[in-house]
Amino acid sequence: MKPPNLTLVIFGGAGDLTHRKLLPALYNLHVDGLLPDTFAVVGIGRREFTDEAYRDFAKDGVQQFSRRTIDQARWQTFAAALFFINASIDAPDAFPTIGARLDTIEHERGIPGNRVYYLAVPPAWFVPTVRQLQHARFVAPTDAKMFARLIVEKPIGRDLASAMAINDAIASVFGERQIFRIDHYLGKETVQNILVLRFANSFFEPLFNQKYVDHVQITVAEEEGVGTRAAYYEAAGALRDMVQNHLLQLLTLVAMEPPYSLDADVVRDEKLEIIQSLRPMEGDASDAYAVRAQYGPGTVDGKPLPGYTSEAGVAPNSRIETFVALQVFIDNWRWAGVPFFLRTGKRLPRRASEISIQLKPVPPILFNKNPDKRLDPNVLTIRIQPDESFSLGISSKVPGTRVEIRPVEMELDYCRAFASSSPEAYERLLLDVMLGDATLFMRRDGVETSWKWITPILNRWTERQDAPLPAYPAGSAGPVEADRLIESTGRRWRSL
Ligand SMILES: NC(=O)c1ccc[n+]([C@@H]2O[C@H](COP(=O)([O-])OP(=O)(O)OC[C@H]3O[C@@H](n4cnc5c(N)ncnc54)[C@H](OP(=O)(O)O)[C@@H]3O)[C@@H](O)[C@H]2O)c1
Repeated sequence: MKPPNLTLVIFGGAGDLTHRKLLPALYNLHVDGLLPDTFAVVGIGRREFTDEAYRDFAKDGVQQFSRRTIDQARWQTFAAALFFINASIDAPDAFPTIGARLDTIEHERGIPGNRVYYLAVPPAWFVPTVRQLQHARFVAPTDAKMFARLIVEKPIGRDLASAMAINDAIASVFGERQIFRIDHYLGKETVQNILVLRFANSFFEPLFNQKYVDHVQITVAEEEGVGTRAAYYEAAGALRDMVQNHLLQLLTLVAMEPPYSLDADVVRDEKLEIIQSLRPMEGDASDAYAVRAQYGPGTVDGKPLPGYTSEAGVAPNSRIETFVALQVFIDNWRWAGVPFFLRTGKRLPRRASEISIQLKPVPPILFNKNPDKRLDPNVLTIRIQPDESFSLGISSKVPGTRVEIRPVEMELDYCRAFASSSPEAYERLLLDVMLGDATLFMRRDGVETSWKWITPILNRWTERQDAPLPAYPAGSAGPVEADRLIESTGRRWRSL
């Protein structure tokens, strides 16, 4: 199904996100014939781009970051739909000017007035932009024939109170059904496949509960340091940047009950229940089950790497965490007593996002009798990036005359199995917004419930400003405190 004809208005249309992700994603949707028959993409920003210069900027982004190379004929038709309006969101005359130009573009291209507004601006501009949209009467009433939708990037707030303030301000202009809050992890093929794996295969779903699962590990590891994002990261840290959104979203998909339908709100209701069932991490519980750390200097492949506090733009006495490990419990019947270990960090040995579900050991009888040579438990590993795949670790007999058992992996590699590259997350997400399908987007209650769970950990860390901040060498697998967290339960992190 093709979306109706529309205009995508990107506030922050000359920013990094638009350059690296949005424009390449839109180009790929165009090549796949998935964009509306008639559309316009209008970037807005303070840069002095003409439409032609903006098309060059877009081409550069596609050339560098698209999964496809440019096809000249297709590029021409795509480029003709790109426009740029030079305006500052806070300038008093900006929105009448933007409105007049949008009307002209829509009139010339025959677009009926359906609009999607994308907030690809720094978070401090979310609320001012939405207020300006309201003042300029850019948002059609919900009963109008045309639609207006809003895409909001993460981070939405930095704690529960600030997230609620942003959501309140947006809700005074847009109805919840018009708002699409992006967590781009949800657009990744392997993440979408978690539900298919669980609910389209009778192998897995019967095992996903406390009777069979020993524990679950969710890892989002980055090889890079803070890079050029110090200004943002110094006010965020790993818990806000990664756990509140990506890791908790992955957790909900692994742990949720089967929804009775794939309707957006039914799926999101089930996900919400998981976040509501998380055991609170307040006070002592936070000290016991949440580890934070910061990378220090290290060496990778003989190359020295600076510690976090020596990176450009980072305060020399910064106490921002670049690593978090958590032991989490979901207090419901399905998962009672099963620990979920979450970890994320920068400057870890490799880039890897994966979920592993480790089953309980087989009884110590038959092939598992020898106490010195226990069989490895079965593990289902879902690799989200970079190598999109899932694998099943099982025990198998080594061919031969003796009974020798060895762990082996059965693996499904997406690229090889389907002989095509997966679409980028933003392709799927942009298309869904155009089609009005909110399943892969965060609902207000989901975002706020996540913050409600995260905020006591942040508060505890603020209270304990003077507590030592563990360190780990850049390029290592994290601090010893994270090892202790899991090893105190008799388990180990999967190697990175
Ligand atoms: N980059 C990513 O990969 C990524 C990933 C996840 C989420 N995000 C989120 O996406 C948003 C954009 O991130 P980004 O990395 O693209 O940031 P960025 O490179 O700094 O781009 C922000 C854009 O906002 C525009 N802008 C800022 N103030 C403005 C104003 N007063 N009026 C008009 N335009 C204004 C800037 O354009 P001018 O300076 O030309 O006006 C710039 O194009 C942020 O909320 C970020 O947290 C980004």
